[in-house]
Amino acid sequence: MDRVLCQCMNVTEREIKRVIRAGADSVDAVGERCEAGTGCGSCRGGIDILIEEVKRAQGRRRLPAALLSQLGQLGLFGGGHDS
Ligand code: FES
Repeated sequence: MDRVLCQCMNVTEREIKRVIRAGADSVDAVGERCEAGTGCGSCRGGIDILIEEVKRAQGRRRLPAALLSQLGQLGLFGGGHDS
């Protein structure tokens, strides 16, 4: 279900998550991109929670790449060192 999170601007949770994934990393940045949170402001706490949710989800997806990079730096995976 696509719930309307910002009633004032009629913006759905899905749209807010989309702009967060596209780079909006603060409630104000979300407002600039889709107007959510720019009316009465009562949804701003909910937008903040969505930002944290999306960041956590993105962090989980990035973990393997970060781990592979660290292993590569240690010379344990991927190489890149001339020997
Ligand atoms: S409900 Fe989002 S600004 Fe009012």
